[in-house]
Amino acid sequence: MLENFSYSNPTKLYFGEDSLNYLNEELPKYGKGVLLVYGGGSIKKSGLYDKIVKILKSNGKEVFEDAGVMPNPTVEKLYEGCKRAKDNNVDLILAVGGGSVCDYAKAVSVSTYCDEDPWEKYFLRMEDVDNKIIPVGCVLTMVGTGSEMNGGSVITNHAAKLKIGHIFGDNVFPKFTILNPVFTYTVPQYQMVAGFFDIMSHVLEQYFSGEDDNTSDYIMEGLLKSLIHSSKIAVKNPTDYEARSNIMWTATWSLNTLIDKGKSTDWMVHMIGQSIGAYTDATHGMTLSAISMAYYRFIMPYGLHKFKRYAINVWNVNPEGKTDEQIAKEGLDQMEAYMKEISLVMSIKDLGVTEDMIDGIANGAFILEGGYKVLNHDEIVNVLKNSMI
Ligand code: NZQ
Ligand code: ZN
Repeated sequence: MLENFSYSNPTKLYFGEDSLNYLNEELPKYGKGVLLVYGGGSIKKSGLYDKIVKILKSNGKEVFEDAGVMPNPTVEKLYEGCKRAKDNNVDLILAVGGGSVCDYAKAVSVSTYCDEDPWEKYFLRMEDVDNKIIPVGCVLTMVGTGSEMNGGSVITNHAAKLKIGHIFGDNVFPKFTILNPVFTYTVPQYQMVAGFFDIMSHVLEQYFSGEDDNTSDYIMEGLLKSLIHSSKIAVKNPTDYEARSNIMWTATWSLNTLIDKGKSTDWMVHMIGQSIGAYTDATHGMTLSAISMAYYRFIMPYGLHKFKRYAINVWNVNPEGKTDEQIAKEGLDQMEAYMKEISLVMSIKDLGVTEDMIDGIANGAFILEGGYKVLNHDEIVNVLKNSMI
């Protein structure tokens, strides 16, 4: 049975090779001042920066720049961005980049006019926004997080060794997002496959929970099959438009708030992965891949029926003559083989995690209760130790 829910998603998407042109339709809806937010320079190398500045200027915009948003944006950078947005009284924040740039833009959007410390209000105390919000638009260049069509914003505080995501309401979702698969062609292979696994993890976090018959589970099996199929093509040929466009669309649907409607969710891989990120600053998708096999092998007995279904419906395991455990295990073995095939990081050692960090990482992982097994501190430690292989 579906639990009760309300649903809306206000982000307008423009998808395809000509989608950047639609910036001309969106820009007139906002005032003159635009904060152009981007990362470490990939958009300058690719030529996208020049194209966007040209479109902004031709629409009469005054452009203020906020460059250097790092992967896993920090709280110090957030304070800097808020000052720039406020000093220039901007009317729109245009994020051009991956999940980090989009997340950061949303954080600046809600924090600029916040009269207390936004880290404390939004990320430690998880309070709602009750001040002015600056609208955000996105041009996505790296696929994985779903940030282009959700209210998520993840900020890292290195001093406190915490990486925390706030899921803001739909008043903070990007007003519009431009999705051109061609913009993702230049993403380095390591980042690209990390993004692929981020998508897979988003789906699995929402899939491995609940006992009810739920439409979402069928949608998720479809998303996973499409992702597995297209990702194998994309690692061999990163400029395969068909594969990259399908992956881009799959990423958006995997975390645009649709597929968790009416059901419970897990999200413990992300909680542990984020804590690894706070200690190592590792690439988000790789923090998830490095712990997933240890995590899922540990919880499999508690959600055996779902792991069996996953094996049969996603990995095409033939159930004939096998016990439920054998079927479920075969599914996870196939998942592991796929992860190795696309060159994901399979050990947290390869992310710089050392034995002495494990207790702190476990402490920094928020324990959520929606999965098949609510983990305690020692069980998180064990999952981490089993991810050190
Ligand atoms: O900074 P530049 O030079 O642009 O380089 C970036 C960055 O180094 C590069 N890149 C992006 N597009 C490129 C490109 N390089 C060449 N060509 C392009 N077209 O890729 C690197 C990684 O970018 P980043 O934005 O950090 O990656 P991603 O999209 O994976 O975002 C990760 C962040 O999103 C958060 C993560 O925790 C992490 O902080 N998440 C946000 C979520 C949400 N909003 O709902 C959910 C996710 O689970 C995740 O937690
Ligand atoms: Zn993620």
